[in-house]
Amino acid sequence: MWSYGNPVDIRFGANSFDTVASVLNGRRYALVTYPEPAFRGLTMRLAQSAGDAALVIKDVAPNPDFVLLAEQCARFASLDRAVEAIVAIGGGSVIDSAKVFAAASGNFGNVRRFIEQKTDGEKLSAIPTIAVPTTAGTGSEVTCWATVWDKAEKRKFSLARTNLYPETAIVDPALMLAKPRDLTLTTGLDALSHALESIWNKNANPVSACFAETAARDIFECLPKLVSDLGNLELRERMAKAALLAGLAFSNTKTAIAHNISYPLTLEYEVPHGIACSFTLPAILRSVGGIGGFREVSLRKIFDRDLLSASEWFSHFLADLGVRTDPSKYGVRPGEWKRIVEDAFDGERGLNFVGDKTRFYESQWALQLL
Ligand SMILES: NC(=O)c1ccc[n+]([C@@H]2O[C@H](COP(=O)([O-])OP(=O)(O)OC[C@H]3O[C@@H](n4cnc5c(N)ncnc54)[C@H](O)[C@@H]3O)[C@@H](O)[C@H]2O)c1
Ligand SMILES: [Fe+2]
Repeated sequence: MWSYGNPVDIRFGANSFDTVASVLNGRRYALVTYPEPAFRGLTMRLAQSAGDAALVIKDVAPNPDFVLLAEQCARFASLDRAVEAIVAIGGGSVIDSAKVFAAASGNFGNVRRFIEQKTDGEKLSAIPTIAVPTTAGTGSEVTCWATVWDKAEKRKFSLARTNLYPETAIVDPALMLAKPRDLTLTTGLDALSHALESIWNKNANPVSACFAETAARDIFECLPKLVSDLGNLELRERMAKAALLAGLAFSNTKTAIAHNISYPLTLEYEVPHGIACSFTLPAILRSVGGIGGFREVSLRKIFDRDLLSASEWFSHFLADLGVRTDPSKYGVRPGEWKRIVEDAFDGERGLNFVGDKTRFYESQWALQLL
């Protein structure tokens, strides 16, 4: 038996941003975004159609951290009347921050207790969120979790609650036209990782696999073109759709080993999330050759070749984009790498992986990465 479900109402297309006001439908709202001028412009554009936000949180920084989240949550507590919806305009960091605010009821301690001690989940609120992604990567607009970072203690948490699925995702590829090359690349590779991680995953099912296949094929075709043609709306649309489909795929499976390996690389070596969760993909792909069933069928459909030659082709694909697949290139020494991989295989996401550690190491040797 298998099941698939996702409750998010999705609107997709250039200028779909203009429908945010009708989705809000007069509700009192908070707006969450970044400090850059382009996002101030979007805040004003929304205010013209939906009225002013009751609260604007405009200082979201990449990789939402305990310290700033606590301060931002307190701003919700100082409102004289609670908001009825939260609009998040930005990438994963903005949408994930909005989910924290939706759950916290103005007190980050509520979220912190839940993610650290796994208690008091019933005390968390769930203010409806409207997610407007401006990156094509995280899929956070269709998942019910948020990545929360404790940089001081070098820890990463996942705030996961089924009532934190955004109410609506409004995906407007025109908002992504100004994304610089590096951001386009790292977020695109994050989406690719979500697609593949949802396939070599114990929770994979035929629906998630179908979304993942389409997403991965489109990313392999589009991303190299897009990074040298950043203003191409058609390519932006294809990448935005692929990231959304990858999000729909892993919204039901969660991620797997590549993501668990990625977190220490981001926390300890400052490797951007999209690179940290994708540079191991060719070796992982090689290690799952022979797993059989619909998972292997899906992977063969994506790569149009056996998984051994697919992994070599994939390494070249990343190299052509300037992404190194050797951990030492990120400053990770062999002993450290072993610790990261061992911990990752024992972690929650690592346990989702259908392959095994020995074959992963063997694949790295075979690809001359150790
Ligand atoms: N919840 C999930 O399902 C999920 C999945 C994967 C990753 N994540 C998390 O999401 C975060 C990463 O999110 P991200 O990769 O979308 O990036 P981000 O939200 O961290 O943004 C990075 C930078 O991109 C800039 N930016 C965003 N959109 C832009 C645009 N349209 N034009 C120009 N600049 C723009 C921002 O100003 C910011 O400085 C990480 O914390 C990661 O752990 C969450
Ligand atoms: Fe990711």
